[in-house]
Amino acid sequence: MRGGRLALWGWLVSACGTAPVPAEHTPSSPPGTWSEADRAVLASLRLDTQLPPSPTNPLDGDPGAVALGRALFYDAGLSPSGTVSCATCHQPERHFGDGLPLSEGVGRTARHAPTIEGVQAAPFLFWDGRADSLWAQADGPITHPDEMGSTPEHVVAHVQATYPQACEALGITGEGAYVRILQAIAAFERTVLPAEAPFDRYVDAVLAGDPQGGGHLSAEAVEGLAVFLGRGQCVACHHGPMLTDHAFHNLGLPQPGAMDLGRTVGAAKVLKSPLRCGGAHASGAACDELRFLDPTFQDFQAAFKTPTLRNVAETAPYMHDGSMRDLQAVLTFYSDLPGEPVAGHRELTLVPLQLTLQERAGLVAFLESLTAPVRPEALPPAP
Ligand code: HEC
Ligand code: HEC
Repeated sequence: MRGGRLALWGWLVSACGTAPVPAEHTPSSPPGTWSEADRAVLASLRLDTQLPPSPTNPLDGDPGAVALGRALFYDAGLSPSGTVSCATCHQPERHFGDGLPLSEGVGRTARHAPTIEGVQAAPFLFWDGRADSLWAQADGPITHPDEMGSTPEHVVAHVQATYPQACEALGITGEGAYVRILQAIAAFERTVLPAEAPFDRYVDAVLAGDPQGGGHLSAEAVEGLAVFLGRGQCVACHHGPMLTDHAFHNLGLPQPGAMDLGRTVGAAKVLKSPLRCGGAHASGAACDELRFLDPTFQDFQAAFKTPTLRNVAETAPYMHDGSMRDLQAVLTFYSDLPGEPVAGHRELTLVPLQLTLQERAGLVAFLESLTAPVRPEALPPAP
């Protein structure tokens, strides 16, 4: 089950062995002098690129599939107009965002494009979690009229004509061809992981006994980290190596446009998806994530997936609707928590933080320390 406080509870329980974090945990002062409990939390945030297995994708880890998926990710031929590829909205030079509030493909979409670095471990994809695997997710943008405006038939014909050898090697023929193509794209996406950032080097140094953390974080960033772990309680949702619990929360964002019920709709959709775990194309797996999924769960209302904070300083604007133009705007929101949620109720862990200017500067410096270069294997293949 992945909803609000249940997920937090699950995390506290499952993390007991490695990261005993009391809910009211406050780092010791002065900043930079970390207690044993703090150090355990820091260790749990360090980048770890080991992914859970991908049981419904038979092409996962296949080097040929990764190479084909990489070519397809950057191939505008997947759209009938020949103008839109995955990389139109997930640009490597922008850490796989597009810099726009709402994405534009063939038309204008209703949501902001999240990064794809660090989403590989998520049990549910999209802001509302309406896909339960990376490969099932890829069908969304391909067939969405405002994104690539394509069809499975067009994609299969294009891929078979353009990459005949890869298709033969990977069994991209007959009825299952389209799903195999999606699985090759996902095999590539599984390699688009975040790289080690200054924050990770800081953690390594602290854990090795250097109170200065090797000088990898400024004093300001260390102060921000203390707020992140302590009084800000950011780590309640942004935790683990990707700084996300992969769960869904209602922050009570203002919704000036059409009402978006988020996870309530996403949970109902994933249960009906023909591409879901246990469906015709992915039978045989355990599907634990779907077994207890209940779209009527109260806390799903207007809840959206916690995004990763890795490389976040490079992926403005922010939130599922792209409504916050920079990190300062995000911090102003957490500081004030303005207005009432349009649906459901605001996550109970959230309280207006009344952040000082110094705390904001520290948090921004800390978030900037999560920036690392894009891995070369994620860039477009040589022509
Ligand atoms: C027109 C812009 C656009 C194109 C083209 C596009 N995407 Fe996206 N992508 C988005 C938007 C917007 C979202 C969020 C949509 C939502 O949650 O409802 C998204 C979400 C995702 C996610 C989910 C990330 C997460 O955190 O859950 C993945 C993965 C992804 N896209 C991969 C792809 C792949 C692969 C392709 C090509 C087959 C692609 N995208 C094409 C705009 C685009
Ligand atoms: C209750 C869980 C929760 C807590 C606590 C929380 N966040 Fe978030 N955060 C989220 C969710 C969920 C979103 C996405 C919301 C949306 O788009 O509707 C988000 C979005 C963000 C974003 C935008 C990222 C992007 O790519 O759009 C940033 C930055 C961020 N949070 C930083 C923080 C900081 C700093 C704190 C502590 C002051 C914090 N968060 C506390 C759940 C949480």
